[in-house]
Amino acid sequence: MKVASAIAEFRTLRAELEEPVGFVPTMGYLHEGHLSLVRAARGRSASLVASIFVNPSQFAPSEDLSAYPRDLERDLTLLEAEGVDLVFVPSAEEMYPEAYDTWVDVEDLTKRLEGASRLTHFRGVATVVAKLLNVVRPQVVVFGQKDAQQALVIQRLIEDLDFGIELVVAPTVREPDGLAMSSRNTYLKPDERAAATVLHRSLLLAEALYADGERDAGSLRKAMEDLIATESLVEPVYVSVADLRTLDELKTIAGKALVSLAARVGKARLIDNTVLPTGEGLI
Ligand code: PAJ
Repeated sequence: MKVASAIAEFRTLRAELEEPVGFVPTMGYLHEGHLSLVRAARGRSASLVASIFVNPSQFAPSEDLSAYPRDLERDLTLLEAEGVDLVFVPSAEEMYPEAYDTWVDVEDLTKRLEGASRLTHFRGVATVVAKLLNVVRPQVVVFGQKDAQQALVIQRLIEDLDFGIELVVAPTVREPDGLAMSSRNTYLKPDERAAATVLHRSLLLAEALYADGERDAGSLRKAMEDLIATESLVEPVYVSVADLRTLDELKTIAGKALVSLAARVGKARLIDNTVLPTGEGLI
């Protein structure tokens, strides 16, 4: 496995890879969720590329950029074990040199959900992903359903800017008790870690009510909020039942819906989601 931190060096190594190239962008501190994306890419490509870059432009000044967990040595060992061929590990200066002045805004999709509480987040995500796709030039890129809105925003970006790259969305990988794997779970104290399972439990409740015939989105939201309220350590930011295409909040569920939530648990801000009807893919 080769590792490059400079764009020029990366491009030289990339030119030697057999096509099609599958790409998994990450911010590191890898867990099984990230590795499942590598495996999904492996089935669809001849060479595997991953990137590790904690992208400053997607963190607001009040957010956890400096605290974000990092362990490059361990990450590289895990990627090598998964058969990754080439890893791009740029510095912030390499990605955003002093004169840097170009930003990518996906306008409508980013106003809702995560975008409503993290105002400049998706501008940072769309910009860095556009740059990474231009550097890596993969045929296939894999994202996780865990960050559902992010995957939809990148799908829009790829389509609108004619990247001509196939986007694959892989299912959310969970801990045995249902908590979605996240690098930010390391922020949780033991009692917070136990309480955080209510997020997944509230999604299961929504799925069960839907399976029983409930189609009123307000009733689903209320049932989820009431369950989350039983855990005093969990402070919801939003509970949403939205149209999967537009992310507009729904009154009644007719087609595919994205049930999603964000919550503060101690120092962590956690997100999770499910698609209704259960078992339907995000894209
Ligand atoms: P990061 O949070 O490191 O996540 C990298 C990829 O792993 C994303 O596509 C995310 O959805 C996926 N992922 C995270 N947890 C997962 C889980 N439990 N199951 C399945 N997939 C999971 O998302 C980012 O980094 C950044 O915003 C990035 C796209 C790299 C741009 O900076």
